[in-house]
Amino acid sequence: MTEDFNVKLVEDVKSYTPDPLYRKNAWMADYEKTYAKFLADPDGFWERMAKELDWIRPWDKVRDWNYPYAKWFTNAKLNISANCLDRHVNNSRLNKVALIWKGEAGRERIFTYQKLLSQVARFANGLKKIGVKKGDCVCIYMPLVPEQIIAMLACARIGAVHNVVFGGFGAQALNMRIRDAEAKVVITADISIRRGKAIQLKAIVDEAVLNTPTVETVVVLRRRDPPVDLHENELDFYELMAGLPDTCTPEVMDAEDPFFILYTSGSTGKPKGIVHTCGGYMVGTYYTSKYIFDIKDKDTYWCTADTGWITGHSYIVYGPLAVGATVFITELTPDFPDAGSYWSLIEEQKISIFYTAPTAIRMFMKMGESWPDKYDLSSLRIIGSVGEPLNPEAFEWYYRVIGKNRCPILDTWWQTETGMHMITTMIGEPMRPGFAGKPIPGIEADVVDKDGRPVKPGNGGLLVVKSPWPAMMRTVYKDDERYRKYWYTIDGMYAVGDLAVKGKDGYIMILGRADDIIIVAGHNIGTAEVESALVSHHAVAEAAVIGKPDPVKGNSIKAFVILRVGNQPSERLKQDLLHHVRNTLGPIAMPHEIDFVDKLPKTRSGKIMRRVLKAKELGYDPGDVSTLEE
Ligand code: WT7
Repeated sequence: MTEDFNVKLVEDVKSYTPDPLYRKNAWMADYEKTYAKFLADPDGFWERMAKELDWIRPWDKVRDWNYPYAKWFTNAKLNISANCLDRHVNNSRLNKVALIWKGEAGRERIFTYQKLLSQVARFANGLKKIGVKKGDCVCIYMPLVPEQIIAMLACARIGAVHNVVFGGFGAQALNMRIRDAEAKVVITADISIRRGKAIQLKAIVDEAVLNTPTVETVVVLRRRDPPVDLHENELDFYELMAGLPDTCTPEVMDAEDPFFILYTSGSTGKPKGIVHTCGGYMVGTYYTSKYIFDIKDKDTYWCTADTGWITGHSYIVYGPLAVGATVFITELTPDFPDAGSYWSLIEEQKISIFYTAPTAIRMFMKMGESWPDKYDLSSLRIIGSVGEPLNPEAFEWYYRVIGKNRCPILDTWWQTETGMHMITTMIGEPMRPGFAGKPIPGIEADVVDKDGRPVKPGNGGLLVVKSPWPAMMRTVYKDDERYRKYWYTIDGMYAVGDLAVKGKDGYIMILGRADDIIIVAGHNIGTAEVESALVSHHAVAEAAVIGKPDPVKGNSIKAFVILRVGNQPSERLKQDLLHHVRNTLGPIAMPHEIDFVDKLPKTRSGKIMRRVLKAKELGYDPGDVSTLEE
């Protein structure tokens, strides 16, 4: 795994220390002390966090670790939606703003906690009316509108397992996720709106549900006027809620009941259905929203991710709402109506905590500082980053131009599988550009060699987590072997799949994926998924896909394609292949370059050596090629 990996660190990195007031006023004021306290009594640490929330019945045991399976808060009963909504409504936050949504043409919608709870309860009653029961799977394929969040919370309320699919995925990707999770209901919208254009989501759903026998009903949020016609087994989102009571008793969930499934790319063509459970996930996302983001009642919090990703699940919906935050969301993109769109929203909404991705930051850098400079960003208190390494240049720019040399940057490392933040530099601690930081209290992480021995400071290796944590995935849906692989690759540890370097002060620099995953604009794309989409085109015999460094997107996708006999390379065929990948996987997985080739480098056993293709493409030494066939 670490073959082409030999990093020696030159530690002359700058360090930035925020105003001591940050530390003084933070929910967690002393990282070292809190970490030591956690290490001395991990269960006690998590128990204290859990006790800040509402439980229907308390736990018998905080943690039940039976390697590689963990249970957290055994026999405890709870409901997450009750913690995200009722807890605040009952504790004088009832008229606090929970959600602000901004759409195109200045449209704005605001939900107080009380109003959000009523909507969630009514939609939950609607789901019950169409036969959704505890444990049933509901697929949510929607744009970033309040109804998406209402649908998620309504599932949580009645104990239905949601499977949210990002609205940028194509019909085949959606179909696979509906079938694998055996969704009973699909909730969608007629359209999503991107840069002034309507994208026909419903048409994609129509295609995706053709061979999905488990799907009984499709619920459609109709945004267009006049509304689109509905087919048999299709219901309107608001008609489903109409006339139903705005209260709904939260389902009593066991801490270990499945909460949701979220698919993430794996190193095979088949995405993994990551399964999270109710109790641990709630505690993990609540804890990190409060103590890592340091969310206070007066904050207006904006995470620019889509709810269809884990970042949106944990840090738009469940964590911030469990904390009682005011959450801002928007369907607007950073370049629409112009390159100042995000900065104008920060000024207008007085955003105080802003969480985005390195790919967005690098795009902002490209568009120039004159855009953010037009706006008043003084409401910002904390700025965050997630999804891929925040390179030092991007860090410096973000810190200076957006944070005005004042706001701490939280570069948070975590994964769909971890459910919650794992490594970052806590508010008030010195920040080192290029380094995400240290494991947060609650997490034991390290950089090790392939035998699990910690590397010496200044060296690189594999990033691992050494003990279970509450929000960890419990299994890969219908494929527990893939789950076990995470824990069995290195004995006794959770192998993350990332390469990292340990600094001499314990700070960790994340280098990127060690396997066949390409992170493009913060999205995990499996090389195998793109390859199989290409091969499903009638003209393609074989395909290999690699990631190439890209100054803005982090990586771009390059495909090498061998055509079937009788097909000639042409610009038109290239366009056709791109169109095909777009239709099957969605626009996010479209190659940026396609080369037609006669041969691909393979091992004797027939495995494509992407490493060799990549070395050739980027002009470096491919390293050991002894397994390459003649
Ligand atoms: C992979 C997980 C967790 C939400 C977004 C992505 C990379 C994530 C960082 C960071 C360097 C990062 C890793 C990780 N990654 N955050 N702060 N610094 N790399 O979730 O799609 O499950 O991807 O994203 O490679 O393993 P995901």
